[in-house]
Amino acid sequence: MAQDLSKSSSTQTSSPAHVAIIMDGNGRWAQLRGQPRLMGHRAGAKRIREIVQTCPNVGVKYLTIFAFSTENWKRTQSEVSGLMTLFRQYIKREARNLAKEGVRVRFIGDRVRLDDKLVKLMDELEQLTETNDRVHLTIALNYGSRDEVARATKRLAHDVAIGKLLVADIGEETLPKYLDTCVLPDPDLVVRTSGEARISNFLLWQSAYSEYEFVDTLWPDFSAEIFENIVDRFKSRDRRFGGIKV
Ligand code: IPE
Ligand code: IPE
Ligand code: MG
Repeated sequence: MAQDLSKSSSTQTSSPAHVAIIMDGNGRWAQLRGQPRLMGHRAGAKRIREIVQTCPNVGVKYLTIFAFSTENWKRTQSEVSGLMTLFRQYIKREARNLAKEGVRVRFIGDRVRLDDKLVKLMDELEQLTETNDRVHLTIALNYGSRDEVARATKRLAHDVAIGKLLVADIGEETLPKYLDTCVLPDPDLVVRTSGEARISNFLLWQSAYSEYEFVDTLWPDFSAEIFENIVDRFKSRDRRFGGIKV
């Protein structure tokens, strides 16, 4: 059998097909201006459109953004409810534009804890854009990687219990089929804004071989130009996937 060297080649030249962004720093952006944190979230939500629009120009087919984590419920009730209102407003305001621009929208995360009105809007946006293929935008909402793996494991165990899956057939390709991201490729590049260098429970399984970029910019100041520079830098990374240069 011919050896597959495609993943152990030397210099990277292509764009990252899938970029995942931890949009962090909204609160600090607002605090720096003496504004309530929610103003930072509003400013942050407005940045998304430009980044989505930039994707096709820089060869990014999949963009995944972290909007609300399973841990973010720990924030004050007023911040959490402000964010939930903002998510509903964002979907209503952006739906038509996203559909028109050929963006296919998906949501990942556990919907059970989200309110019915929001879930309905999420379902409708997914349906409205399901035939689009220009850019695939995935919004992680009430998403936590550990929670995702736990939910996936439950479904996997259920399939074993009913005889649909044999224990002997479980391999490393099995679990991803049960993750919320089952239809998505793994991210090539994970970006976090605001200077924090941690993952905060985002795409743990999926980012096993991702490249990482931690940038100091606060999310509401993130721009198409910064995004383009990050994508450019990715192209000179040497991804070896455990192999060696040939
Ligand atoms: C990211 O910004 C948005 C969410 C987590 C919802 P933050 O709200 O975490 O902003 P900082 O980190 O407090 O500045
Ligand atoms: C991660 O940011 C979650 C999102 C960007 C939605 P956080 O601000 O919640 O992460 P920590 O608390 O700094 O780790
Ligand atoms: Mg933060």
